[in-house]
Amino acid sequence: MKVTIVGAGAVGATCADNITRRGIAHELVLLDIKEGLAEGKALDIFQTASLCGFDTRISGSTNDYSKTAGSDIVVITSGIPRKPGMTREELIGTNANIVKGVTENILKFSPDAIIIIVSNPMDTMTYLSLKSSGLAKNKIIGMGGILDSARFKTYLSFALNCSPSDLHGTVIGGHGDTTMIPLTRLATLNSNPISNLLSEEELKKVAADTMVGGATLTKLLGTSAWYAPGAAVAALVESIVKDQKKVFPCCVSLNGEYGQNDICLGVPVVIGKNGWEKIIDYKLNAEEQAEFNKSADAVRSMNAVLATL
Ligand code: LAC
Repeated sequence: MKVTIVGAGAVGATCADNITRRGIAHELVLLDIKEGLAEGKALDIFQTASLCGFDTRISGSTNDYSKTAGSDIVVITSGIPRKPGMTREELIGTNANIVKGVTENILKFSPDAIIIIVSNPMDTMTYLSLKSSGLAKNKIIGMGGILDSARFKTYLSFALNCSPSDLHGTVIGGHGDTTMIPLTRLATLNSNPISNLLSEEELKKVAADTMVGGATLTKLLGTSAWYAPGAAVAALVESIVKDQKKVFPCCVSLNGEYGQNDICLGVPVVIGKNGWEKIIDYKLNAEEQAEFNKSADAVRSMNAVLATL
């Protein structure tokens, strides 16, 4: 399969590094508007092929979308990242135009591609890409919940002193500091509910740390994170390429599911060769559903900003 990554910044390049290193795609194109950046990063990554043992053909392009022709999957990371103290939502004005333009250019050469949106504010950018592309809803996937769930498992592993790989935990709702919902009630350590292992107070702290997981890194790094976002995208791409049918929380178009309509928001979905194939109903309790509705309201008011740009 051919994968294109638009945006060769830290997130885009780390996606490319993960996808090539693990031999997930046969061909990968990295594209950026900055002269030479994508070519340079692609060449650097390809020079690891004999060292890491992969065959993926990776190449770079400065804004020449014809090089992306026939892509099966396109990952959009373009746009500005947040700076310390900024919310993801503050990026909307700049990133909406970029994401809309990139989506149009991609579809000229890859009309059947599955599109993965990483640019922030991700839920609104996913909605924008869905509306402006006219693609089938199953082909537009926002990447946020997988990353937030990985951060959830990180903080749980600190609290429980266990391996993150032994944990199951899901974050749904928006990919924002105040809109994401770590589902502590459903998280388990090897099938043992974590509520058996941590106090109410400890669970609250894990949830709070998870919600500002991205902001914590932005403060430490001076810009937003890239290792975990890159690995999260690679997991998503792998499930599509290999038709693994993994269940990941992703931002998808809701038409009545989880009580919401005309919005893209994070819910657990099956990811396979057709994109997101099915929404899984986790049967939220009343409190969780109320939080989900609140998250939807916040994302909906962000989506309304699109009409004013
Ligand atoms: C983060 C960015 C990718 O959460 O949204 O790190």
